[in-house]
Amino acid sequence: MTAIDVVVMAAGKGTRMKSSMPKVLHPLAGRAMVQHVALTAAQLGARHRVFVIGHGAEQVEQALKQANPGQELSFVRQEPQLGTGHAVMQAMPLLPDDGVVVVLSGDVPLIRADTLAQLVQSCAGRQLALLTVVPPDPAGYGRVVRDAGGQVCAIVEQKDATPEQSAITEVYSGIMAAPAALLRGWLARLDNSNAQTEYYLTDVVKHAVAEGVSVQATPSDDLTEVAGLNSPAQLAELERIYQRRQAERLMEQGVRLIDPARFDLRGEVQCGSDVQIDINAIIEGRVVLGDGVSIGAHCVLSNCEIGAGAQILPYTHIDGEALGVRVGPGARIGPYARLRPGSDLGAEVHIGNFVEVKNSRMGAGSKANHLAYVGDTEMGRNVNYGAGSITANYDGANKHTTVIEDRVHVGSNCVIVAPVRLGAGGTIGGGSTITKDTPAEALTVARGKQISVANWKRPTKKTS
Ligand code: UD1
Ligand code: CA
Repeated sequence: MTAIDVVVMAAGKGTRMKSSMPKVLHPLAGRAMVQHVALTAAQLGARHRVFVIGHGAEQVEQALKQANPGQELSFVRQEPQLGTGHAVMQAMPLLPDDGVVVVLSGDVPLIRADTLAQLVQSCAGRQLALLTVVPPDPAGYGRVVRDAGGQVCAIVEQKDATPEQSAITEVYSGIMAAPAALLRGWLARLDNSNAQTEYYLTDVVKHAVAEGVSVQATPSDDLTEVAGLNSPAQLAELERIYQRRQAERLMEQGVRLIDPARFDLRGEVQCGSDVQIDINAIIEGRVVLGDGVSIGAHCVLSNCEIGAGAQILPYTHIDGEALGVRVGPGARIGPYARLRPGSDLGAEVHIGNFVEVKNSRMGAGSKANHLAYVGDTEMGRNVNYGAGSITANYDGANKHTTVIEDRVHVGSNCVIVAPVRLGAGGTIGGGSTITKDTPAEALTVARGKQISVANWKRPTKKTS
C-alpha cells in the first residue's frame, strides 16, 4: 500500500464571502469548511496533512490546531498567492517521494473519503488521476480536453479556453491524486504564461502527457461532493443539502423527525430507539439521546446526554459546553428551561419554565418548576424548589456551594445565600433569605414578621 499525503489549498482570499473571516473558516453544519476537509483526510488515512495557508493564515492555523488536538498537521505559508500550482509547490518540500499526493481545497468541504480512495486507486502509484464532474453549467471551471481516442490531454481554464473548448461539459473538480515524485517534476516545469498570469496546478496534465504518463479522469456523479463554496448563498445552499442528508440518515435509523427540512445537526448525535424530534431543533457538539426521548419544537441542545424517556419541551436551551449536561431518565425539562454546563439531573427531575440550572447536581425526583436559579448546588432527592427562589452563589468575588439535602421543601421567592446547607426534610418558608445552615425536618422562616395596623388611613392629596 502506497502512503497517502494530503495537500489542502487554503490560501485564497474568498472575496465573494465579503467577510473579515477567512473563507475556509466559515462553518458548514457547525464546523469550519476546512475542518471537514481535515477530517476527511484523516478518514482517508493520510500520512501527512499539509495545509497551504495565506489569507488569514494565523487564524486558519489556530482554528485547525484547536479542532484537532494532539494531531499532526503541517502548515506552509503561500505569500503571495500565485495560483494553485504555486500553492502545491509550497507543500512539496514537506512530502516524501514515495507517497501519492492528494490535492484538496479548503473550500470544497463535502468531498468523501471513499471517493478519494478510489481516486488514489486509479492513480495506481504511477499515473495522474483527476476527479472530474459534468455540472449543468460548466462556466468558470477548467475544461477537461480529451484527444480523439478519449485520452485526457489537458485541462484548459475557462479564461484561456477557445470557444470549442468552452463547449466541453466535463470539468475538473479541483481534486487530483499523483505520485509525489512525478508531481514534483511537473510542478517544477509550470509557468504563468496564461490569461491570469498564475501558476496553474491544472497544467501538470500537459507535463504528464508529455512524459507519457497516463492521465485518468473519473467523473463523479455527486455534484455536492465537489461543490466549491465562494459566497454566502452557496454556503447556505450546501448547508441545506448537508442537513437534509443527515436528517435522512437519522430517519433511516428510526429517528422520527417531524420535518426533516427543519432540523439542524451541527456535530454528532447518537440516538436510541423511538426518539422523536419536533421542528426547528438545533443539535450541536456531541449529543446522546436515549431510548424514547422526545425533543420539543425550537430546542437547542449542545453537548449533553439525555436519558431514556426524558422529555425536552419546546424552547428549551441546553448547553453543556466542556463540562456537559446530563439529564436523567424520565426527566421533564421545559418549556423555556435553560440548562448550563455541569448540570447533572437525576431520574424524573422536573425543570419548568424560566428555570436556570448551572453546575449543579439534582437528585432523582427533585423539582424546580417555575422561575428559579439553581447554581453550584448539590441537591438531594425529592427536593421541591419553589417558584422564584435562587441560590446566591456569587459574593462578587468567589462562587460558593449550596447543599440542599433530600426532601427539603424550599418555598417561593427564597434567597439561599451560599455557602449554606439545608438539612434533610426541612421546610423553608416562602420569602426567606437563608444565610445560615438550617436543621433537618424543621420549618425555617427568615423574613419580616407580618403585622397589620387596624383602621389605617392612607394619605390623601392636599387641596390648596
Ligand atoms: C480551480 C481549477 C479549475 C477547477 C476549479 C474547481 C486551477 C488553475 N483551476 O479553479 O480547473 O475547475 O478549481 O473548483 O487550479 N488557492 C491557494 N493559492 C492560490 C490560489 C488558490 O491556496 O494561489 C486555493 C484557493 O483558496 C482555493 C483553491 O486553491 O481553495 C482553488 O482556487 P480557486 O481560485 O478557487 O481556483 P479556481 O479558479 O476555482
Ligand atoms: Ca474555486
